[in-house]
Amino acid sequence: MKFITKIAVAGVVTVLTTAAMADSAKSLKHAEKVTELRQSIFSLLGNNMWQLGGMAKGKIAFDAEKAGKHALRIKQLSLMIADYSQTDTSAHKVKTEALDTIWQQPDAFAKRIKDLTLAADNLQKAALSGDEKMVKKAIGGVGRTCGGCHDNFKAE
Ligand code: HEC
Repeated sequence: MKFITKIAVAGVVTVLTTAAMADSAKSLKHAEKVTELRQSIFSLLGNNMWQLGGMAKGKIAFDAEKAGKHALRIKQLSLMIADYSQTDTSAHKVKTEALDTIWQQPDAFAKRIKDLTLAADNLQKAALSGDEKMVKKAIGGVGRTCGGCHDNFKAE
């Protein structure tokens, strides 16, 4: 009985360790598909941020409800980054701006993701308050977390 428990625990530990580690793309085709999906997340982040940026700069009419909608989307997208960046494509010649550091420094990358989730949360709260000044400040906060990750994990 004790022995079986030990094996079960060892099994769980192995699964957990494997889940935390990136797996590598098995072929160029696989790497291309993975890259396309990864970029889709960032592309949607970009689109939502673009609209918020327009609001912050006064180019798009201020609308707290819309700001809240974009904040929610950014938060949801942020929660997908880890999964969609998990497969290491660095061994293949894919067209990407993703730096190899994503898979070399997974903890630092995870921290940047968390920063974005928290900033989006903060923006969502500001949007609920309806306070224009607070919302604009929170938009700036989200923007800084985008740039913070790009500095270390995305090519210019
Ligand atoms: C945790 C790190 C991280 C965060 C946070 C992050 N990005 Fe990125 N972003 C990347 C990486 C890595 C790439 C390059 C992806 C690739 O080319 O495979 C990228 C690419 C992009 C692209 C180009 C997408 C394309 O079509 O190729 C845009 C636009 C973008 N990010 C916008 C944003 C915005 C806006 C935010 C904040 C709301 C943000 N990113 C937050 C890491 C991040």
